[in-house]
Amino acid sequence: MENTYLIKTKDLVKTYRMGGGYLIALNQVNLEFKEGEFAGLVGPSGSGKTTFLNIVGSLDSPSEGSAVVMGREVESLSHKEAAELRNRYIGFIFQTFNLLPVYTVFENVEFPLLLLGLNAAERKKKVMNALEWVQLADRAKSRPAQLSGGECQRVAIARAVVKVPSIILADEPTANLDAENSHNILRTMERLNQELRTTFVFATHDEKVIRYLRRKITLVDGKVAKDEIIEQQDIKGDNR
Ligand SMILES: Nc1ncnc2c1ncn2[C@@H]1O[C@H](COP(=O)(O)OP(=O)(O)OP(=O)(O)O)[C@@H](O)[C@H]1O
Ligand SMILES: [Mg+2]
Repeated sequence: MENTYLIKTKDLVKTYRMGGGYLIALNQVNLEFKEGEFAGLVGPSGSGKTTFLNIVGSLDSPSEGSAVVMGREVESLSHKEAAELRNRYIGFIFQTFNLLPVYTVFENVEFPLLLLGLNAAERKKKVMNALEWVQLADRAKSRPAQLSGGECQRVAIARAVVKVPSIILADEPTANLDAENSHNILRTMERLNQELRTTFVFATHDEKVIRYLRRKITLVDGKVAKDEIIEQQDIKGDNR
């Protein structure tokens, strides 16, 4: 990598046409994320958190400004190049989990691996590993409709981490989890972050998630209102 930032936005603006005018979802956002960060976007509903993750994840394009992800300017990528960037480097956990209902849990988690040219035995090992991380190995053959909301969320998390991507973009990953499962999942993500240097960018309202963050970025009306580093020594014990 020629630059030290995995993600860097410059004067990022996203506007949506609304009736006769415009709605400004992101307003001149300048943010940089280095390898190994465990960062979160917080802020009121409608402040632009999901919009930011979608642009950085090359699912959406900026109206103005730029977003450079893994050394590539997302706004200049073709559809195919954007898909390659996502497949190789990015894992998503969506606010709505986007599981494929006709496939089993195993197949849903296996999906990102199909694009990477691994053989069936390698895929199985990775899928079962990821399902063990979220404690759902015994539900591999179930379908999403047979799972609770929280279990679907955990499948979505397994799918995001299965290829051990450089960056995981997690939009409200604990929205459907109880306290115990939230902590289990967050500790798993923390372990991935520490052991594999996977960079995490969350969008969240959840105090439980916020307590794990090492950097907290507050968006208000599409602007960065605050960008705080939370020192490790502030994280006391493990009674979060
Ligand atoms: N496709 C769209 N068309 C029009 N407006 C949109 C579109 N997507 C998002 N917006 C608007 O952009 C603003 C930012 O939305 P965004 O989803 O990024 O907020 P958010 O911070 O993720 O909120 P929440 O916490 O509720 O998930 C909102 O006012 C929203 O209504
Ligand atoms: Mg959102």
